[in-house]
Amino acid sequence: MKKILDLISEEVTKVFVECGYDAKYGKVTLSNRPDLCEYQCNGAMAAAKEYKKAPFMIADEVAEKLVKNPMFSMAESVKPGFLNLKIEEACLADYVAKMQEDEGRFGCEKVKEPKTIMIDYGGPNVAKPLHVGHLRSAIIGESIKRIGKFVGHNMIGDVHLGDWGLQMGLIITELSLRKPELPYFDEAYEGEYPAEAPFTISELEEIYPTASKKSKEDEAYKEAAMQATFELQHGRRGYQALLSHILNVSVTDLKRNYKNLNVSFELWKGESDAQPYIPDMVQKMKNDGFAYISDGALVVDVKEETDTKEIPPCMILKSDGASLYNTTDLATIVWRMEDYHPDQIIYVVDKRQELYFTQVFRCARKTGLVAPETGLKFLGFGTMNGKDGKPFKTREGGVMRLEHLVSEINGEMLKKIVENQKTKENLDISEEEAKETAKVVALAAIKYGDLSNQASKDYIFDIDRFTSFEGNTGPYILYTIVRIKSILNKYYGSGKNARGAVIEAAHSDSEKNLMLELSKFNAMMENAFEETAPHKVCSYIYDLANAFNSFYHGNKIMTEENETVQKSYIRLLELTKAVLETSIDVLGFSAPERM
Ligand code: ARG
Repeated sequence: MKKILDLISEEVTKVFVECGYDAKYGKVTLSNRPDLCEYQCNGAMAAAKEYKKAPFMIADEVAEKLVKNPMFSMAESVKPGFLNLKIEEACLADYVAKMQEDEGRFGCEKVKEPKTIMIDYGGPNVAKPLHVGHLRSAIIGESIKRIGKFVGHNMIGDVHLGDWGLQMGLIITELSLRKPELPYFDEAYEGEYPAEAPFTISELEEIYPTASKKSKEDEAYKEAAMQATFELQHGRRGYQALLSHILNVSVTDLKRNYKNLNVSFELWKGESDAQPYIPDMVQKMKNDGFAYISDGALVVDVKEETDTKEIPPCMILKSDGASLYNTTDLATIVWRMEDYHPDQIIYVVDKRQELYFTQVFRCARKTGLVAPETGLKFLGFGTMNGKDGKPFKTREGGVMRLEHLVSEINGEMLKKIVENQKTKENLDISEEEAKETAKVVALAAIKYGDLSNQASKDYIFDIDRFTSFEGNTGPYILYTIVRIKSILNKYYGSGKNARGAVIEAAHSDSEKNLMLELSKFNAMMENAFEETAPHKVCSYIYDLANAFNSFYHGNKIMTEENETVQKSYIRLLELTKAVLETSIDVLGFSAPERM
């Protein structure tokens, strides 16, 4: 379905051409003075220069013809030469009705040529618990993936597990001290290793911090951990077997955590999966003359003439031949290209890694790891801060575990839901339902609180504000959806039926305004994808929810006597609900039945 602004622009363009002006002047935009008009065209201002006429003369000429056009209920020229437009109610209703017929898509067409887009997000580290720093990547990445799928692209999410660092050596070392009798530590052992992991997830989560602490205090311990890491990375059998246990236990737990966040990944690849690609990649970089030894390390220069700040060379191998975080990311590009030939790879990572990714991307391009037509995009997000403006911490000042954060918000939400129920008459929500609902609403509070900000900005995680039922919050959006659901239930429950009824021309300004907001859906979604900007979806649904609530407060929907009018209202409500639900779905949350 065409975008409403395009339809309007087409009409206005026709008139410009009829009057003898170039078509390019007919472009219409949303009004920046909604108190005066709904749409505006500033073409006469620009045309004035080319045609050496006063702008208002051109605007007048065009307006005179547009007044007669059935698409507009108002077309006015205003000095010095603007065109102010309002759409005819019937025409708008017709557009909105067509959106409704286009079930599930609401006028947003799928792209004609779908692209394969890989999205690297999540980035959890094996054996380390998820903390709030991983929250943003998961929330933003998931939403961008869903927006991309909605507009029709082939989106492949890869969790890119951090499973190749010193943390593995630390765990192995600690375990070897605690359970030296295990066959994994016996180099002479040739049999099969046990299928069962020698630890549970809670043990693993205790082993890692203990080992990490010890290594900071005890040099020999650290040496041992580094040695274990080295041996693991060079194929020691017992350690490899331990690695797969660590991975299994950890990944099961991570999947559970992500599921609670309504986040899922197409690929569960990790840094370790990139390792086999490193030797050939490095060899090729050397053969092609890109990689050279500097201070013992193997590097590739990535600075460019136009740089305004110093971009250091990309280090490929350390002087001891060990690979780095860089090397892994580069080798990951190699398998991603080989296996998926993506048109684009998007990285949703903390913006403090921006310089690092600049180096990686340049190195990948320069050395030909990535096809020239494949885009590499870094989507850096800002820090989630506490109310004090500093990175979010626990009350004790430690790093907040994601699970704890989520259960804290769940608790807060449950309190609010119970309070809210008290203000209502039929207090029939069971404790169990209240708990389930609290979870659903809490997730919306967290995700909307995050996504409604531009990703690159830091934001303040304010539990009170995020969980409020009023204002620009997730719970407010859900509350609006629940309100619509309840009206629809009452309406259909009373035996009435609006199925197939037409949406009539708006009967009031608030109703028209609701339709105007609805009609922006397709343009908004495409734009949110193009700019990888979930916050655009948030501001759209906030405006839409506000428009709905004004309509709701300004009109008597349930007591409307004219049945045709009432049916039209109900149809409009159904569309509003569906559009809101589709929008929150791409943001990665859903609405409860009641709250
Ligand atoms: N595991 C890393 C961390 O916790 C994030 C990984 C980001 N993605 C990447 N391709 N480097 O900081």
